[in-house]
Amino acid sequence: MAMEHIQAEELAKEFKEHSVAEFFKKNKQMLGLYGKIRTMTTIVHEYVTNSLDACEESNILPNIEVQIKELGNEYYEIIVTDNGPGLTEKTVGKAFGQLLAGTKFHRMIQMRGQQGIGASGGTMLSQMTTGKAVKVLTGTEKGKAISLEITIDPKKNVPKITNMQTVERKFQGTKVQAKFKDVIYRDSSTGPLEYLRRTAIANPHARIKFKGPKGQKALFKRTIKIIPKKAKEMKPHPHGVTVDELISMSKYTDAKKVASFLKNDFDRTGSTSIEKIEKKVKFDLNKDPKQLSWQESEEIIKAFKKIDFIAPNTDGLSPIGENRIKKSLNAIVAPEFVHTITRKPKVYAGGFPFQIEVGIAYGGNAGKKADGEGRSLEIMRFANRAPLLFDAGSGAISKAVQSVEWKRYGVRDLDSIPLTVFVNFISAHVPYMGAGKQAIADEDEIMEELRLSLMDCGRKTATYIKRKLREKERLMQQDMFYKYIPEIARALKNITGEKEEFLTTKLEKLVKEKLGLEKLQENLKQEETEPLENEVIEEVETSGEKEDKEKNTKENK
Ligand SMILES: Nc1ncnc2c1ncn2[C@@H]1O[C@H](COP(=O)(O)OP(=O)(O)OP(=O)(O)O)[C@@H](O)[C@H]1O
Ligand SMILES: [Mg+2]
Repeated sequence: MAMEHIQAEELAKEFKEHSVAEFFKKNKQMLGLYGKIRTMTTIVHEYVTNSLDACEESNILPNIEVQIKELGNEYYEIIVTDNGPGLTEKTVGKAFGQLLAGTKFHRMIQMRGQQGIGASGGTMLSQMTTGKAVKVLTGTEKGKAISLEITIDPKKNVPKITNMQTVERKFQGTKVQAKFKDVIYRDSSTGPLEYLRRTAIANPHARIKFKGPKGQKALFKRTIKIIPKKAKEMKPHPHGVTVDELISMSKYTDAKKVASFLKNDFDRTGSTSIEKIEKKVKFDLNKDPKQLSWQESEEIIKAFKKIDFIAPNTDGLSPIGENRIKKSLNAIVAPEFVHTITRKPKVYAGGFPFQIEVGIAYGGNAGKKADGEGRSLEIMRFANRAPLLFDAGSGAISKAVQSVEWKRYGVRDLDSIPLTVFVNFISAHVPYMGAGKQAIADEDEIMEELRLSLMDCGRKTATYIKRKLREKERLMQQDMFYKYIPEIARALKNITGEKEEFLTTKLEKLVKEKLGLEKLQENLKQEETEPLENEVIEEVETSGEKEDKEKNTKENK
């Protein structure tokens, strides 16, 4: 018997629209909110990156406090307080109560956050697991502080605000207090404390205080008092845009003609390239960009691909800097030896500027506790200074570390060596492999840069290890010679009539000289204390600002 067809009119009754909030409510794993431990760390990450981004944008040295309280079984409260610019009455609701709202998504700029779903994702999860609102206290430099409670109306994806009050005491910054169920706190390598430790390493200008559910306390002090050079907004390079992106941009542009839209809103598109594009497309570039069709946009992208543009502008990037990484690795990891390198900016996939920073810390407390005894290799991965703790096996950074022939650098076994490898990838467009934003795609240019910097660090470590071994050998020889010194000194005293003490010192000096020990020790010491002075860093900072000012005045003319 043939089955009866269900008619489209019948199915139409089931046809409904969904808001983005409803979508993410069902697919919270896309925001990294899955796994009980991972969820907890992800929420801390979202709040802390927001605080750091906000402070950086406002030129404020960040003071961040993270407190986690255990309220019941798999039930916690997370409180994050910062001294940032704060939010206004108008923006605070959207910041915490509307998905895909924020100050970052529409700008091409190197920041930790990108989408506008971090803070509001937290509110949604709190509401879903506890039925409670998120409490926010926020104040700006000039205005009065306010406190309020926020939930999201998932049907409309709009914030619902209750209990809004002005606060009498002075407060500048943002404090968010949110409760979550089905989460677990652990002091593990993927837990909040390790997340904050790594955040501190990559953000030496931040002061981060932590209080855990069992009374654990940690304070990561600033190791430098200078705010990082502000990342600058960049324009997309023509080799890095898709048809869809071009259409979206054309809807928001201020330009009245396609020609000026292409010239003003993209990187490296001068008059000559516009003339070339004009010849390659079938429509008039005097057209209103808002009227661009899909087909026309496709024509432009095709033309883009055929033109040799200058490589993208890279001065919008803001690396941490070799000296600063060195300083914080020394302060927080406490190794014997550190070498760091900040590579020059490069471009991947033809259109996206990026930069790699690598640091290697060896000996002392470097590495992580190995399963048995001793210490083993620890890889610390970062994207725009935010730690990537999960999906450690996949992605460009892990792959690059694995691909280096460490044996050539005297490292026989990565499972038994006190070694920490620090890698920071910076870009306005981090090519994440998945929505969880934990692994970076292994684009050719990225792999090349990673390998070059890792090998450079490997070589420096090898030299250090070799020198240390030589020192150890010589010290053993020294001990051997020292054993005979008293006897020789006594004999010499009888012959020469000199004092025994005087003879002993002379002989010891002679042994040291012959073995070249003094020089060796000096060299090792020098390596450990390469220039870390604040003055040098300050100089770099001010000259960068001067350049900015000069450029601004030139542009304004
Ligand atoms: N602590 C804070 N201080 C000041 N502004 C904040 C703070 N937290 C959030 N905001 C504002 O709220 C917006 C939304 O934050 P949210 O975390 O949801 O998105 P995002 O940071 O823009 O991107 P992402 O989803 O990648 O985190 C931010 O863009 C920022 O403007
Ligand atoms: Mg965010």
